[in-house]
Amino acid sequence: MADKYFTHKGVLFPCLNYSHEALSYVENEFQVRDDDVFNVTYPKSGTNWMLEILCLIRCDGDPGWVRSVLNWERAPWVESQLESALKYPAPRLLCSHLPVQLFPKSLQRSKAKVIYTLRCPKDVLVSMHHFSKLLLLLKDAGSLDPFLEDFLSGNVIYGSWFDHVTGWMGLKGNENFFSITYEELQEDPRGSVRRICHFLGKELSEEQVAAVVENASFQSMRGNKMCNFSQLDDQYMDHEKGQFLRKGEPRVGAAGQD
Ligand code: A3P
Repeated sequence: MADKYFTHKGVLFPCLNYSHEALSYVENEFQVRDDDVFNVTYPKSGTNWMLEILCLIRCDGDPGWVRSVLNWERAPWVESQLESALKYPAPRLLCSHLPVQLFPKSLQRSKAKVIYTLRCPKDVLVSMHHFSKLLLLLKDAGSLDPFLEDFLSGNVIYGSWFDHVTGWMGLKGNENFFSITYEELQEDPRGSVRRICHFLGKELSEEQVAAVVENASFQSMRGNKMCNFSQLDDQYMDHEKGQFLRKGEPRVGAAGQD
């Protein structure tokens, strides 16, 4: 893995777009603001779905923004798009996959809101395995069995799923921390959007909630080139090998369907 990844404080990161310097800056010097909203996840847990929901909530369900601006410009990644994150006008909407121990320390002194989305690890594993074949930033994981070993031992980008979830869920009970599962988003999208709005202190009408759900649906996102990653440069993704929005289904109990 030495060619594509490096280890920072015991956690694997892709070499492309990441560096020790940027990660150290983010952890120790990045200044979190009280009006920041962070979309935080372990990879393949529904990050981009939540991002779409948050953007749509910000626009009262109006899809103008999500249809005209690329998702990574609407909400830059703190750890890999630091410059964009620093330039972003308040109130910032930012994404991160960082485990809690590498997240900006200044979060502790701020009133910034964190939305943490988690997903059944079996589905994360399968999604990540597929993704490793199209995202050129990642090492092709090969067959599923050895990848399962790597996943279980945390020898994958952003480290162990178990440590990530345990670390972030340690913030549960903090009034500025909200957690939700991918499965809850699937089972009850409207109720989930209402809960997110409540956490953000944003009031939307039933019609606006329905518009958020509709414009962030799997089908809508698949057809929107501003969030389906079809615009991602060829140096990052092999578009011939598959789509970012792959299946969008929970696979618990659906063995053999992949
Ligand atoms: P699958 O590979 O299982 O299809 P992330 O954004 O964290 O990388 O997560 C990607 C996963 O979320 C992919 O899962 C993708 O299909 C799924 N996803 C993205 N948008 C979705 C949506 N609107 N509804 C359901 N699943 C979605």
